Amino acid sequence: MEFSKASLAMRSSEIRRLMALAADPSIISFSGGMPNNSLFPIDEVDALWSKLPRKVKEAAFQYGPTSGYPALLESLRAYLESRGIPMKDKGLIITTGAQQGINLISKIFLDEGDTVLTESPSFIGGLAAFRSYMAQIISAPIDDEGMIISELKGLLDKEAKMPKLAYLCPYFQNPSGIIYSQERKRQVLDLLSGTGIVMIEDDPYGELWFDEADKPLTSTMIGMSGHNVPICYVGTFAKILGPGMRLGYVVGPKEIVDRLELAKQSMDACTSTYTQVIADAYLRENALSPYLDKMRPTYKRRATIMLDALAANMPDGVTWTKPRGGFYVWVTLPNGLDSTQVFQKALDGGAAFVIGSAFAPDGIKNDSFRLAFSHTPEDRIEEGVKIVAEAVRQFVK
Ligand SMILES: Cc1ncc(COP(=O)(O)O)c(C=O)c1O
Repeated sequence: MEFSKASLAMRSSEIRRLMALAADPSIISFSGGMPNNSLFPIDEVDALWSKLPRKVKEAAFQYGPTSGYPALLESLRAYLESRGIPMKDKGLIITTGAQQGINLISKIFLDEGDTVLTESPSFIGGLAAFRSYMAQIISAPIDDEGMIISELKGLLDKEAKMPKLAYLCPYFQNPSGIIYSQERKRQVLDLLSGTGIVMIEDDPYGELWFDEADKPLTSTMIGMSGHNVPICYVGTFAKILGPGMRLGYVVGPKEIVDRLELAKQSMDACTSTYTQVIADAYLRENALSPYLDKMRPTYKRRATIMLDALAANMPDGVTWTKPRGGFYVWVTLPNGLDSTQVFQKALDGGAAFVIGSAFAPDGIKNDSFRLAFSHTPEDRIEEGVKIVAEAVRQFVK
C-alpha cells in the first residue's frame, strides 16, 4: 500500500488533538467558528418549506446541475448584484460550502511546488486546501487594516516565480476579526494588478457587521474597478443560515468558473439540491435581510461581553483585536509566549480556544490564540474569559 504524496502532505494536527480535548460539554468553549444552535432559522425554514409547491419539493430530492440549482443561481445573482457585485459578465457556481470552493480553485490552479500567498494568520481550511495540493505558502502579516503593504511588496519582489493564488479574507477575517480599510483593499489590488496572480476573496462574514456605519467597509474587492486582477469571490450561507447546509458559491471570470464546474463534476456531481431549494426560497421571500437584522445585534452583544471581560481581566502586556463584525477576537501574548501552554492551563480551569499555530502559514508561530464569541452560550462568555485570563496570568506577571 502506498499513499499519494499529496495525502502524505496532509497534516492531522496537534490542533485536532487539542480540539478533541475541548469537546467535553462541561468546558466553556471559544473554539468553534460557528453560530450558536439557538440562532438557526428553524421556524422560518419550516414555514418556507411547507409553502413550497410539490414539484419544487420533488426537485429538492433530485440530482441537479453541477453548476447549481437554476432557481438559486438566479436568485443569488440578484442578491449579489444588490450587494454591489457586478454579475453581468461573471460566472457563478454553487459549491458544497466555501471550503469546497477554495479547494476547487486550488485544484484547477495548483501544481506541486506552486506558491500561494496568504495573510498571516490565515484560515485553517484555506491553508489545508493549499497544502493538500502540495503548494508552498508564503504569507504577509496583517495589522488592523489588512495585509501590510510593505511586507506584501517585499514578498512579491523577492519571489523568482510569482504565486499562482493570493488568498485573502478581508471582512472580519478568520481568525483575527479585522476588516480591511478601503485604502488597503485598493493598495493590495494595485500591487497584484497585472502580475497574473488569481485572487481568492473569501467572504463568509461580511454581512455580519455590528454597526451600519461599517457597512461600506464590507463592499467587495470583486466589485471594485480599475485593476487587472482575476478575482474568485467565495461566499457561503454557513455563517448566516447554518454550516449544516453545506452551501457556498464562487463568483469569478467565466473561464475560471467553467473549469471549476469540470473539477466539481468528478468530486460530488452537485451540491445538495435540498439545501439549495431552501436557500432559494429564503432569498425569494426576502427572508435573509430580516434574519440578518436579528443576528447583528446578537453578535454585537456577544462581542461586547467578550471585549469587556478581556479588558477587565487580562493582565498588562496582552493585546487583542476589537472586531466590528464576524465571530472572532485574536489575542496576542507578550514576549512570544506559547499559547499551547496557556491552552493547557485554561482547559484545566474549564475553558478552551484555538491556539495560534493552527492559523500560522508556517505552522509554527504560536504567541496568539483565537476566541470565537459566536457559539458559546451568551451567559457563559464572561466566566470563560475569566478562566482564560487566569490561565494567562500563570505566565504573565
Ligand atoms: C474564512 C473562512 N472561509 C471558509 C470557511 C468554510 O465555510 P463553509 O462552512 O461554507 O465551507 C470558513 C469556516 O469557518 C471560514 O471561516
